[in-house]
Amino acid sequence: MAKITINGKELTVADGTNLVDAAEEHGIDIPHYCYHPGLSIAGQCRMCYVEQEGNPKLQVACNMKCSDGLKVTTDSARVKDAVKWSLEFHLVNHPIDCPICDQAGECGLQDYYMKHGQYQSEMHEDKVHKEKVVDLGDNVVLDKERCILCSRCVRFTAEVSKTNEFGIFNRGDRSVIGTVDDKPLTGNYTVNTVDICPVGALTSKDFRFEQRVWFLDSAESVCNGCSKGCNVFIHHKKGRHIYRLKPRFNETVNSYWMCDKGRYTYKDSNYDRRLTHAKLLGVDLPHDEAISMWAADLNVFTSTERMDEIGVYLTPNQTNEELSALLELFVNKFKITKFFAEDVEGLVKADSAVDNFLLRSDPYPNSKGFLETLKKFGVKLGSLSDMAQSIEKQRLMHLIFVVPEGQRQITQLTGVAEAIRPDHFVVVLTPNRFAQELFASSLSIPTLSHFEKTGTVVNHGGLAQKISSNFKMFKEAFSIESVMKQLADAQSSGRKKERTGS
Ligand code: SF4
Ligand code: SF4
Ligand code: FES
Repeated sequence: MAKITINGKELTVADGTNLVDAAEEHGIDIPHYCYHPGLSIAGQCRMCYVEQEGNPKLQVACNMKCSDGLKVTTDSARVKDAVKWSLEFHLVNHPIDCPICDQAGECGLQDYYMKHGQYQSEMHEDKVHKEKVVDLGDNVVLDKERCILCSRCVRFTAEVSKTNEFGIFNRGDRSVIGTVDDKPLTGNYTVNTVDICPVGALTSKDFRFEQRVWFLDSAESVCNGCSKGCNVFIHHKKGRHIYRLKPRFNETVNSYWMCDKGRYTYKDSNYDRRLTHAKLLGVDLPHDEAISMWAADLNVFTSTERMDEIGVYLTPNQTNEELSALLELFVNKFKITKFFAEDVEGLVKADSAVDNFLLRSDPYPNSKGFLETLKKFGVKLGSLSDMAQSIEKQRLMHLIFVVPEGQRQITQLTGVAEAIRPDHFVVVLTPNRFAQELFASSLSIPTLSHFEKTGTVVNHGGLAQKISSNFKMFKEAFSIESVMKQLADAQSSGRKKERTGS
């Protein structure tokens, strides 16, 4: 540990910590644009000036590592003046298009102008205009005029994604950010450049003009796009619509980054892809009625010891807690023995990094937790072709499908769905409206999507991570745990009625 002094206050920080981070840890804000803890030091924006004891010139804090005896001042008149005029320099050619800029509300220029600027501009010359709305491929749009040339995006593509597209071209006030030959951004990590751009120069095509950031709330979760388990923030509006995911720092999992595929998984949680009401044969029915109907049919099988005619389909999209709730009831109470899934063991064995960075080949967030939980309950899995055959031969008559959001299971379950005949009783627990459409004759009950859940998922490295959202998007969609409780209650009250004849 090192003892340092900032603004006359003695602080203890880890030896070698970057001064910008050390100050922030202790609630002292050193303004910065080009510094990013996940990138190399550029010393480019000159916003992080501090006075260092014994040094006659102002120094940039982003290039200072903390060691015993370091003494700096961040709030002297000299520092404040230098920061203020650095800021004006950044704004000299910046277009004031805040009203139509997607970065408004989370823009480094707006924030620092209010905090450290507030000067009367001394510029009389016209601004230099640069190219606006440059299409950089599937995900990103560039506005060259808004760029402050901090070079974060250049360093990201050079050091992190290693795709090397960005560069700063020309000199002086003609300097522009751009990609070589205006080629689009490539690879699986392009939108991270939008996250780290401190101004509105790089914007996400998906999020552009969709929502003002000050209307958004934030919740913490873990991405469900693959077995990596990247930590994310969910940005949603009043729990009714999710607008974007942003990476959440976790040093051991994803650092500051996430992939583009994972970033768009939130779309499966929104209204147009959701089952929002219980349905029988495609027609809405009250939730309680759906549960009672399911419990009554289950009673027919369990009271006549025909549990081997019940088949359950599961996926590693469920959290450990959801799986435990399902298996507690199905295995321990109803004595169901027939469970089916795709070859999860095979996926885990073959799981590897797709591009030597984050994205992995196993598309599930909880394969390891899934196998572990099933083992605890002594569950052996049959394949999907076993399931289809047993349905065809009428060995399975009561079918339960626990289907997550997304397209993977819809494709995977097509063969199984084709084997179903009118005398099968089919229950689908799902947040996914396409699952209900696939099993059109089913009793479908809406459940929470991944980003509304609370529970635990275990990533490819065996790391158990908590997910804990704090919002629910649809009144009639419940967690698997509460659906299991409702089913258990309905089943016992159905039994009681049978016994008393009421
Ligand atoms: S586009 Fe953004 S991240 Fe890239 S140099 Fe310009 S301001 Fe920095
Ligand atoms: S690497 Fe996997 S977990 Fe991480 S963001 Fe991408 S899909 Fe999600
Ligand atoms: S943050 Fe230090 S020079 Fe830019």
